[in-house]
Parts: sequence; structure tokens; C-alpha cells
Amino acid sequence: MEKITIRPLKPKDSRAAALLLKKILPELAFYTKKSISDDLSSYTPKYISGYLKNRYTIFAGAWAGKRLVGALFGWGSRGGLGYMDWLVVEPDCRRKRVAEELVRHFEHAARKMGMYKVWWDTGFKNKKMNAFNRKMGYKKVATLRDWDHHNDMHFWAKELA
Ligand SMILES: CC(C)(COP(=O)(O)OP(=O)(O)OC[C@H]1O[C@@H](n2cnc3c(N)ncnc32)[C@H](O)[C@@H]1OP(=O)(O)O)[C@@H](O)C(=O)NCCC(=O)NCCS
Repeated sequence: MEKITIRPLKPKDSRAAALLLKKILPELAFYTKKSISDDLSSYTPKYISGYLKNRYTIFAGAWAGKRLVGALFGWGSRGGLGYMDWLVVEPDCRRKRVAEELVRHFEHAARKMGMYKVWWDTGFKNKKMNAFNRKMGYKKVATLRDWDHHNDMHFWAKELA
């Protein structure tokens, strides 16, 4: 596989990032259709470049040459908690630690921003993410059923060293 490089997304990457999400999110059949369509409507190229103006935004891309093959969208907050929203990797680049590198990039950027903890929620039935979170040192802090958009979610958190 071509060498993968991780770097923060720039406004000019917004279209590629929106396309990647549009391609991958419908694969998550355990989320309600409405939650996927609502999320895709908040990740249009215009919104993505708008979010990049927020000083708390941490959006990272994984690049194989000029091709965006993975992305992570998250934020810091005034309260010191970093939040990861979506993490996606192209099917042909999976199981090669691209997601791991994106999360490490996020954690590093969040720590530099002054965050002391990172959290996110992932689908109850997303077995890959249950394994991923445990491997990355995240602890399950809650499970909420019928949560937003009626999805069942696990909530995970990790203290940043
Ligand atoms: C989940 C996803 C981001 C993982 O990306 P990836 O680059 O393949 O993940 P990595 O190679 O970094 O995997 C790291 C660890 O995650 C776990 N994992 C990843 N894919 C897995 C799978 N198919 N089955 C079981 N565990 C898996 C494993 O613990 C793996 O470590 P290992 O390879 O040493 O066993 C990718 O499959 C994806 O985009 N899925 C669709 C979108 C999604 O579910 N996003 C998460 C919700 S925000």
C-alpha cells in the first residue's frame, strides 16, 4: 500500500472529506436512516470549511498521495473535553492502522489544545469500534439506549496523559 500521511484537513479538502463521509456512512446499517441523513447534511463541503474556522475544530485526513482515504472529525471544548464525532476509512485501506493513526493525531492535537480527556459515542452494534476503542485504551463510561435519533450508543472516554 502507498505510504499514508496524516495531516489536519484544510478548507480545500472539504469536498473530498464530504464525499468520503457520503460514501462510508450509509454502510452503518445499525444507525437509523434519519441520523445518517441528518449527519450528512451537517458535513457538506460548505459546513466543513466553516467548521475549520472554529479554533476548537480538529479535523484530520489520511492521505495516500492525493487521495483522501480516511478522516476524523472532532472538536475540543472550553471545558477541556475533546470530542470525536466521525471516523471513517476507505474499505480498501482498512486494517492497516489508518484509524489508529487518525485517533492518535486527534489525541495529540487535543492535548496541545489543553484538553484533559477525550470522549465519543459509537453505535452499540459497531463491533469493530468496540474492539477499536478497547485497543486504543478507551473505557466504556455509559450505554444509552434509544438515544439521539433512537440509536443505541456506547460512550467511551480516555484521560490524556
Ligand atoms: C472502524 C474503522 C474506522 C476502522 O478503521 P481501520 O483503519 O480499518 O482500523 P485500524 O486498522 O486502525 O484498526 C485498529 C483496531 O481496530 C479494531 N478493528 C478494526 N477493524 C476491525 C474489524 N473489521 N473487526 C474487528 N476489529 C476491528 C481492531 O482492534 C484493530 O486492531 P488489529 O488490527 O490489531 O486487530 C473502519 O472500519 C470504518 O471506516 N468503518 C466504517 C465507519 C465507522 O464505523 N466509523 C466508526 C464510527 S465513528
